[in-house]
Amino acid sequence: MRSESELPLDDVPFTIPVADRVKRLPPYLFGKINKVKYEKRVAGIDVIDLGMGNPTDPPDRRVSDKLSEALGDWRNHRYSVSNGLGNLRKEVAKRYFKKYGVSLEPDSEILACIGSKEGFSHMCLALLGPGDTAVVPAPTFPIHAYAVMLAGGNVIQLDVTDPNEFLRNVAYTCEHLFPKPKVVVVNFPHNPSGTTIELDFYVELVKLAKRYNFLVMSDFAYADICYDGYKAPSFLEAPGAIDVGCEFTTMSKGYSMAGWRIGFCAGNSQMVRALGTIKGYYDYGIFQAVQIAAIIAMRHCDDAVDEVVKEYEQRRDIFCDGLARLGWEIERPKAGMFVWAKIPEPWNKMGSIPFSMKLLEEANVAVSPGRGFGEEGEGYLRLAIVENSQRLRQAVKQIGKCLKDEPLAVSD
Ligand SMILES: Cc1ncc(COP(=O)(O)O)c(C=O)c1O
Repeated sequence: MRSESELPLDDVPFTIPVADRVKRLPPYLFGKINKVKYEKRVAGIDVIDLGMGNPTDPPDRRVSDKLSEALGDWRNHRYSVSNGLGNLRKEVAKRYFKKYGVSLEPDSEILACIGSKEGFSHMCLALLGPGDTAVVPAPTFPIHAYAVMLAGGNVIQLDVTDPNEFLRNVAYTCEHLFPKPKVVVVNFPHNPSGTTIELDFYVELVKLAKRYNFLVMSDFAYADICYDGYKAPSFLEAPGAIDVGCEFTTMSKGYSMAGWRIGFCAGNSQMVRALGTIKGYYDYGIFQAVQIAAIIAMRHCDDAVDEVVKEYEQRRDIFCDGLARLGWEIERPKAGMFVWAKIPEPWNKMGSIPFSMKLLEEANVAVSPGRGFGEEGEGYLRLAIVENSQRLRQAVKQIGKCLKDEPLAVSD
């Protein structure tokens, strides 16, 4: 047999030595579920998709009309500025003041991002490196952990479902870990658990940040989606918050503009500048027509956001009532786009991934297994209320039929 060095070059297997940061990422847990979902669709089977928080409703007509108009202006087809148009950042500042009483300087304390996820991820790159540690909420919205890992940092996951306990654990970690965490990530209303907090949580968090010298990154993606009169506070409302942290908001959810990729980072000017530096190298900003339409959305479409929230609230009730009729009692979320459902007995013994697969294969309903959000998510499903009321009713029917052989009972 010839050795490799004697083989013609074209016959030598060529391997791509990807960077260690790619190798550190775990296998994609939703891979098999996505494959089955795709195969069903190709076979013409109607899958009710409650898997992703991906709004199925279009944005308000005034926003899409403005986009069409902006497309007709050739100046909008050039590279834009990477930190976002001045008027867009001013609109974000106005919104923060109107909704939360927070004054922000548009030039130094606000930056436009290609969706909040991009901003969040690059902020991790700007703040963290090898040897640094970030605390993230558990169960964990994947990018909260993976953006830290991709930046080379270490992750500590702390249970977030009891927010006071989370604060105590942050303090304990800071007292006992060396080196101390550099960043604490918070995300309320929380994806996936739906946990919410009041402003006193952030007041306490800022005090801890100052005592233990850590930075705060608040992912406020579900700022607009609140029910039953609940109003989610902004981290930046807490006294001194701007000294220690920043917050990410998005047009994806309340404005149903997920595919447009537009979000914002607001807060501490040094953090905003650091993110701007990274972005200045990596991207040329958001398509200008999208930015112009986003200005119109924020300026004129509060009523549309209210309608979107009403719609989600109604869906939440229809869906939770329907599941309750099956014997599946679920705590109704006060905010966000997800129902975080404990898997009832006897199905909980199966594990959340096989149970999700069963619902997909037998009920044609796609959901996210809790395990996809880390070990703390095991035993739960995350169901996104992104399909309309009629399809949610249908989903309940199909789930009921699929589970009819075994009576449901949720254990404590
Ligand atoms: C908690 C959380 N943060 C961020 C995002 C991403 O938002 P964007 O579309 O602004 O990148 C999502 C989307 O599902 C989310 O659930």
